[in-house]
Amino acid sequence: MSLPPSATPSPIQAYLDTLHREFSGLTAGEVATYIPELAKVAPDGFGIVLATVDGQVYEVGDARHAFSIQSVSKPFVYGIALEDNGRARVEQAIGMEPTGDPFNAISLEPGTGRPLNPMINAGAIAAAALVAGTTEAARLARVLDALSAFAGRPLDIDQAIFESERDTGHRNRAIGHMLRNYGIVDGDPEPALGLYFRQCAVRVDCRDLALMAATLANGGVHPATGQRAVRSEFIEPMLSLMTTCGMYDYSGSWVYNVGLPAKSGVGGGIIAVLPGQLGIGVYSPRLDERGNSARGVAVCRRISADLGLHFL
Ligand code: DON
Repeated sequence: MSLPPSATPSPIQAYLDTLHREFSGLTAGEVATYIPELAKVAPDGFGIVLATVDGQVYEVGDARHAFSIQSVSKPFVYGIALEDNGRARVEQAIGMEPTGDPFNAISLEPGTGRPLNPMINAGAIAAAALVAGTTEAARLARVLDALSAFAGRPLDIDQAIFESERDTGHRNRAIGHMLRNYGIVDGDPEPALGLYFRQCAVRVDCRDLALMAATLANGGVHPATGQRAVRSEFIEPMLSLMTTCGMYDYSGSWVYNVGLPAKSGVGGGIIAVLPGQLGIGVYSPRLDERGNSARGVAVCRRISADLGLHFL
């Protein structure tokens, strides 16, 4: 005989429920429209998930609603580039300085053309160009397999989002050609751009994001599947750059106010990582003027303050 579920939620679950109720009222921001398909997203979706390194998952709201990962993919593909090439080669191609510029800025180091970090588009396209594989299909499989290992389930691509960005991503295409001009990308930049557009269109839900963050918190091993998603030595560079550059031109304020390595995406997702402890995923597609989820930022600020998660 199985017992009925307990009527009293755990304190963490009760806390998340309260948080969700409270922040549902915050309706600031607008969904991204510069990718036509993203403009169709229901603006008021809202989920919060917290996943611990020992495999507990607490979720509230639209935790299973699918959306495109967008820039939250960037630290993970940077991790793949590190695994496939080693630190020295990646450091030649991509810097580690915050820019204070918007995500789509063409922030290249004067002289070398090296993108300043892997969290802005220029650095992310350079990272995509470093993914190993002899064919475009093999490189895509490498990215999908790695992202799936972080999430703990097979992820796929939202084809409509991919095509929408492929057909309108002229600025990213210009960045790709700048990288080609400086020799950061060898040969035709189009395959790296194709991979970048596809990685941004990977479909996730808020629960996936929390588990991806928890896998980072757990030294690269997924808390539930036990599968290693990235070599442990690369967690440090990934989390370092999430800390200094993950929220674009809000990164300084984020570290000041929240104090956790994090990454946002224009699909409305945010991940935040408390190393050794837990991962947080928030989904809310209304963005602030910097392209970060407005509610996501507010919720993370509150969780960090309430639970004392700031790393300092
Ligand atoms: O490159 C782009 O424009 C998008 N596919 C990803 C940008 C993104 O998510 C920026 N994040 N806030």
